[in-house]
Amino acid sequence: MSTTTRAPIKLDPSSSLHPESIGQAKALGRLQGRRIMVVGAGQRKTVDEEPPIGNGRAISVLFAREGATVACVDIAQDAADNTCQQIISEGGKAFTDIADVSDPNAIAPCLERCAKQLGGLDGLMLNVGISHGLQLPNMTIESWDKNFGINVRSHMQFAQAALKVMDPGSSIILTSSVASQRANGYNPAYEASKAAQIALGRAIARAGEERGIRCNVIAPGYIDTPMGRDASRRRSDRAVTVPFGRQGTGWEVAYAALFLMSHESSYVNAHTLFVDGGHLSGIQRVPKG
Ligand SMILES: NC(=O)c1ccc[n+]([C@@H]2O[C@H](COP(=O)([O-])OP(=O)(O)OC[C@H]3O[C@@H](n4cnc5c(N)ncnc54)[C@H](O)[C@@H]3O)[C@@H](O)[C@H]2O)c1
Repeated sequence: MSTTTRAPIKLDPSSSLHPESIGQAKALGRLQGRRIMVVGAGQRKTVDEEPPIGNGRAISVLFAREGATVACVDIAQDAADNTCQQIISEGGKAFTDIADVSDPNAIAPCLERCAKQLGGLDGLMLNVGISHGLQLPNMTIESWDKNFGINVRSHMQFAQAALKVMDPGSSIILTSSVASQRANGYNPAYEASKAAQIALGRAIARAGEERGIRCNVIAPGYIDTPMGRDASRRRSDRAVTVPFGRQGTGWEVAYAALFLMSHESSYVNAHTLFVDGGHLSGIQRVPKG
């Protein structure tokens, strides 16, 4: 038996970027005919001149490419319209619906409007999430409640309303974060609300099972989105040890969501899928020098 170990190679980060990772893969009809709401389908504005694609926009565009009609829900009209226009310009089907999901009275009417326009509902993708980045000593009741209102309560309300109208075979997905598992972001309202989402996802799966409706959670790691760039501006050491020498892309988050939204995952339920390159499991690159 050989006892030699392979010498580490100098890994080029681009060697792990495939057509799927950059949103250039051929569509395969994996969501043909599905009617899906994406909540938080726009993307935030940042100071970047050429911003990367955000998770919500990548998810919406990919779902449409794979054959779904997508209701693009967002608080920001221009952000949702831009996602919608990208889908339509590619020959897909989408429309915009405007709602502020921090308002508990806005959720059920939004879901009803979208389900009506879609002609039914077989998919609910809850991507919306906010972070104020306040450390514990500076936390305010207002900020805490706003984080939980958007990141957790709105998801509970959307699921409650969706379970009333969805048929068997439908799928619900929540978007948590690796921040749900650790405190290194010094961001307790975000971390606690993202951890709560994982328990909420299980509760939704419990409630949906008897109607044949699945619910899963995706938990992205360090992703190069406008949101990720804002977080990196707050904390420059945020992503120095990322696996494969690069952060993830919005498309890579979208492909994980695509699997959980499609019938390919028909026996995957109440699961949390980390999309972090293995970072949380200790797969970290130690920067040289
Ligand atoms: N980028 C990362 O590194 C990273 C890592 C882990 C998890 N996530 C999660 O990914 C999700 C967001 O990713 P993104 O790239 O789409 O972010 P984003 O901030 O670019 O987009 C979020 C969208 O939600 C909308 N929104 C905000 N408040 C709203 C409200 N009250 N009502 C309705 N819409 C509202 C915004 O207008 C925006 O279009 C969040 O749940 C976030 O926690 C991101």
